[in-house]
Amino acid sequence: MNKKILIQKGDITKFDGDAIVNAANRSLLGGGGVDGAIHRAAGTLLLEECKTLNGCKTGEAKITKGYDLEAKYVIHTVGPIYSGKDTDKIFLESCYKNSLNLARENDIHTIAFPAISTGVYGYPKEEAVPIAFDMVIKWLEENKDYNMEVTFMCFNDEIYRLFMTMNLGGRSGRRGQGK
Ligand code: APR
Repeated sequence: MNKKILIQKGDITKFDGDAIVNAANRSLLGGGGVDGAIHRAAGTLLLEECKTLNGCKTGEAKITKGYDLEAKYVIHTVGPIYSGKDTDKIFLESCYKNSLNLARENDIHTIAFPAISTGVYGYPKEEAVPIAFDMVIKWLEENKDYNMEVTFMCFNDEIYRLFMTMNLGGRSGRRGQGK
């Protein structure tokens, strides 16, 4: 199953697959972080299309064209602002699940995710990465009939190392730590 998951270091705006996922906010009208980078790279037509979507709820996902990006589509999802409550995990899992379901509905077969909520939204990276990784594994197992390749595009070393640890089966060690 892991062969369908790739872990790379780099800038998601350069991903040349079918779709990239944007860690947006509920307005869908742009922002900083990866949201800002995607809007800058896609051009102003992306914002014009986003304005027609009437925002997006936390945990949900909406799709637009990619415009000047390499990728054909952008799937915008809104991660939870970290609060320490149990709902954080539920919303973060929903971001990955709903983005992948929307990708399947649009015949997307190669998709790249940033580490949603681990920047401005303050989700501790060592918690967010296993949630992301496990949800993608679960989705791929539940959608064996659909050819999907998922890339985690890591913008910094810390995130990259955390995902690489997961890919090497590191979570079993983690679970040993009572998490
Ligand atoms: N490519 C890949 N990953 C990136 C890039 C990039 N070009 N730029 C930033 N990242 C990474 C960050 O290092 C972090 O690991 O994306 C992850 C998510 O960080 P943020 O972009 O800050 O997103 P998030 O924490 O979900 O906060 C969302 O920030 O930018 C605003 O409008 C956005 O209000 C929303 C909030």
